Amino acid sequence: MKQEKILVIGASGQIGVELTLALRKIYGAANVVASDLREQNALLEGTGPYVSMDVMNKEMLHVQVIRQNITQIYLLAAILSATGEKNPNLAWHLNMQGLLNVLDIAREEKLTKVYWPSSIAVFGPTSPRQMCPQKTIIEPTTVYGISKYAGEFWCNYYFMKFGVDVRSLRYPGLISYKSAPGGGTTDYAVEIYHEALKDGHYDCFLEKDTYLPMMYMPDAIRATIELMEAPSESIKTRTSYNLSGMSFSPEEIATEIKTHIPQFSISYQPDYRQAIANSWPQSIDDSVAREEWGWKPEYNLAGMTNDMLENLQTENR
Ligand code: NAD
Ligand code: SER
Repeated sequence: MKQEKILVIGASGQIGVELTLALRKIYGAANVVASDLREQNALLEGTGPYVSMDVMNKEMLHVQVIRQNITQIYLLAAILSATGEKNPNLAWHLNMQGLLNVLDIAREEKLTKVYWPSSIAVFGPTSPRQMCPQKTIIEPTTVYGISKYAGEFWCNYYFMKFGVDVRSLRYPGLISYKSAPGGGTTDYAVEIYHEALKDGHYDCFLEKDTYLPMMYMPDAIRATIELMEAPSESIKTRTSYNLSGMSFSPEEIATEIKTHIPQFSISYQPDYRQAIANSWPQSIDDSVAREEWGWKPEYNLAGMTNDMLENLQTENR
């Protein structure tokens, strides 16, 4: 079997750091090249090769793919929902052109696989709010959601037309303690743990009853690797798979944190991110992912809260 050599683009971000470390464990440190526009995340230092690279520079990306004998790309560079609403042109440009650059190079160099994440942000106010199915009305109202939905169809197009084996997941909001989140509407669910330990109080930018689909990072990393390792014939959805972990509101996560830190308090000052959150479903039906490649989440709110607080406390010691 051919030795795979993986390029992770956007490796210094919230998902990139943990995904790069997980891939290095499986494929060997030297076979996973981390890359990003910004400097290497401290957690990646000394763990394997790193190149500084802009995914928008197609020529440089192409040179790196050839020079490093890359066989697979994980493309994580993107502008997320909240930052995207502040700079729609940049979000559209990066989220679309970055993907098209990668898909073109994958086609030309006959890469074995490409991974590109979509998001629950593809859904809009006209989609079902509860247990939103894989196939339904999809009318996103954020530039981020529009770019993700268009991206899903580009992935499907490159698979159908050119045979590029590109796979994708519609991640829910991701919660993690290793690398900071990068400008999403669901970031409150990361900030709240840090603030609970630091100040014992969190001022939330969403209303207390705003339910959103969420997932703990270890589940997201496992889902990504399981999807990428599944046999090609099981991957029947070539746009992007719904993926579900848990669903909770700011009030519920605060209540869970209080079981560990009884003096913790929360206040609510909703800002422009409330409208983004209101446009998304509250929970997701991921039965297609479960049926086609065996997806099953492990963490619930209580398990995640235990793990987050334990790890953040250890880090702060
Ligand atoms: P992030 O913002 O934390 O990381 C993105 C990384 O891409 C950053 O390190 C950034 O420096 C890098 N980057 C930006 N522009 C670049 C460029 N031109 N060239 C190279 N690198 C560049 O984002 P994340 O949360 O890790 O998200 C990764 C992917 O997962 C994105 O596609 C995002 O839409 C998707 N996603 C994330 C979540 C979540 O909750 N984190 C949920 C759904 C989907
Ligand atoms: N967590 C992401 C965001 O809020 C969802 O894609 O933008």
